[in-house]
Amino acid sequence: MPSLQDRYRKTKERLNTFGQSHVLAFWDSLDDSRRENLLAQCETLPLEILNQEIANSSASHAKSDPSTDDIQPVSVVCAQSLDALKYRSIGEEMVRSGRVACFTVAGGQGTRLGWNGPKGTFPATPLLHKSLFQVFAESILAARRRWRGNIPWYLMTSPLNHQSTQDFFREHDWFKLGEKSVRFFAQGTLPSLSLDGKILLAAPDSIALNPDGHGGAIRALAASGSLAEMRREGVDTLSYFQVDNPLVKAVDPLFLGLHAAHPESSGEVSSKVVAKRDPSEKVGVFCRRDNRTVVLEYSDLPLRLAEATHPDGALMHSAGSIAIHAFSRAFLERLADDGQGLPLHRALKKVASIDMHSGVLVEPVAPNAIKMEAFIFDAVPMAIRSMVYETRRNEEFAPIKNADGEDSAATSQRAQSERAARWFEACGIEVPRDEEGGECAATIELSPLTALDASELAQCANLPRSIAVGAKIVL
Ligand code: UTP
Repeated sequence: MPSLQDRYRKTKERLNTFGQSHVLAFWDSLDDSRRENLLAQCETLPLEILNQEIANSSASHAKSDPSTDDIQPVSVVCAQSLDALKYRSIGEEMVRSGRVACFTVAGGQGTRLGWNGPKGTFPATPLLHKSLFQVFAESILAARRRWRGNIPWYLMTSPLNHQSTQDFFREHDWFKLGEKSVRFFAQGTLPSLSLDGKILLAAPDSIALNPDGHGGAIRALAASGSLAEMRREGVDTLSYFQVDNPLVKAVDPLFLGLHAAHPESSGEVSSKVVAKRDPSEKVGVFCRRDNRTVVLEYSDLPLRLAEATHPDGALMHSAGSIAIHAFSRAFLERLADDGQGLPLHRALKKVASIDMHSGVLVEPVAPNAIKMEAFIFDAVPMAIRSMVYETRRNEEFAPIKNADGEDSAATSQRAQSERAARWFEACGIEVPRDEEGGECAATIELSPLTALDASELAQCANLPRSIAVGAKIVL
């Protein structure tokens, strides 16, 4: 076992090589346990990768923007044009035979929402204020009952919220899913950098770390042994979704069946999209580039292309990403074995950090740091072929990203209630509306345990005959 001093010398040398020796600036003022803490962090720093990223970033400043001439529209599979019954029954059989696991990425910091705790603990539903985690749990429990499958649930946390996420599930008795079938693992982290590429400190004995993005999932799924566990248990397909969308169908047999058997799918990764609201909507867009399907961040799609239309006036690049995918386990294993990891993207953020002269923690007023993150959708072009399936926004996508305004709890709760209202109407129940086809004039909260879709709702025994203006209905 090398001594603290030996480890210190080795670490200092390594940091020196990469121009990051300031990380040890407060060494002399630390006691042994804090020294130990700092060394442990330094020893796992991927300095070679960071160095490469810093070099790339200065090179890309010097370069002009890459050409966008080769960006083409993606072909999209639509519900209207397919034999839904066939694919749904393929998907149901996959679930029944234990081949499907749910996978939620829940390691983000949720800074825009500003909620004190893991984002999945945020009260999301309109009347009972159930947490996002509870909504997904009920959805999975309902799917287990309906299609009689095991459906384990994997959740990726980060070292910053791992314990509090697990505690929340324990406090809620794993929402009746069974402790053993809810499986947590933490993603990796990367240091936040100053604008000139220096690692920032969060305290004299600790580096300012941020989770390495939802794209860190591939490495973390492998490193945690989750992929191996799935293999042992016969799980070959992952139903992937984010922690902030309470309208998601955690298990969607139609989508799973399409992923497994549609001619446009290689069975490696498939994605759901919705039609973009307008050219300027800030969502990633699926396109074709170099004969591959790719997702471009909204900021990378030039306005000229974002606004381009077909002769019938429809947007040419309208396949908006809603971060719902199906992955084959084998595809993720291949990417993990390859060891490359997904490319890192840089974002300018505000990060509290230690002033290197005074040793005092400074809360910045303006963005002062670069955070690096990998994005899961960068896996899409690595597939042989990947299917893009268009679904309806109002049925499946109402994320809670912001404290107010667009994509907030208020807009999501309205969308949840509206979807329930449409399902009631599909069952022949009159729902009050502000005007013909206008907003629902009642609030309805429907648990996934009551119904996963309108056809299941129709079979419920205790449905009201009609709903009064201003009513609050929980079912
Ligand atoms: P967002 O891009 O919305 O980021 O994450 P965020 O961290 O939740 O929120 P902001 O940007 O700080 O406001 C989309 C999904 O990816 C997960 C999030 O938990 C969310 O489900 N995610 C994000 C991770 O699991 N790890 C990460 O490092 C980043």
